[in-house]
Amino acid sequence: MSTPFVTRVRLKIEKVARELTESSAERGFRRNWPLVDSIEGWLLPSEGKWLFNAARSLPNHASIVEIGSYKGRSTCCLALGCRGSEKRIFAVDSFDGGPDLPKATLFPDFSHNIDRSGLSQYVEPVVGLSSQVAKRWDKPIHFLFVDGSHQYEDVMADFAGFFPHVVPGGIIAFHDVNEGWPGVFRAWSETVKPQLTDIGYCDALGYGRKPGCA
Ligand SMILES: C[S@@+](CC[C@H](N)C(=O)[O-])C[C@H]1O[C@@H](n2cnc3c(N)ncnc32)[C@H](O)[C@@H]1O
Repeated sequence: MSTPFVTRVRLKIEKVARELTESSAERGFRRNWPLVDSIEGWLLPSEGKWLFNAARSLPNHASIVEIGSYKGRSTCCLALGCRGSEKRIFAVDSFDGGPDLPKATLFPDFSHNIDRSGLSQYVEPVVGLSSQVAKRWDKPIHFLFVDGSHQYEDVMADFAGFFPHVVPGGIIAFHDVNEGWPGVFRAWSETVKPQLTDIGYCDALGYGRKPGCA
């Protein structure tokens, strides 16, 4: 059993070790986390950091499509990974809560949160149902992040509508790939995952790459 003193020393050593091994970009993300964390949402710190690193890894002019932005928590993590680049996030959302959340008017909060984070130059909101947006989509996608409706048919439609636009080697990530969200879990396990390479998980995020070279 450790004493409070031993625990304090251990925590201090862990903090120093983390700071020494962290890149300056990751330090920047950690310093911005309180801002991200002030935005309501369900994304865990580990998942936010994963989104940040994935966005950072993309080429300078990459396009990121996020389906389901809510009040901007995950959008900010992605946008922090775009700082200093020409990358853009297309934040697709009906901004009404969809079938899983209470009906709400979310766009004012989303807009306010992106503005106050100083990241609006990286974010282009696309207001509408993802199925409608998919029909008129015509740009290559380097990173597709799906966190919209969690109903099975809707998740399948999001994947079917946007996956053809993902470039070979592009990143695909789905949030809530666990039994708590059976619609997402089934679509991920039966349809999405078998079509990807380099599969991995970060808490409730499941991710992979579209086969082929970027
Ligand atoms: C779980 S929340 C997204 C959370 C967000 N990614 C975050 O980390 O803060 C789901 C969002 O998807 C949106 N949504 C649900 N169904 C949709 C649909 N069919 N088309 C577009 N947006 C939808 C809702 O309005 C809601 O904002």
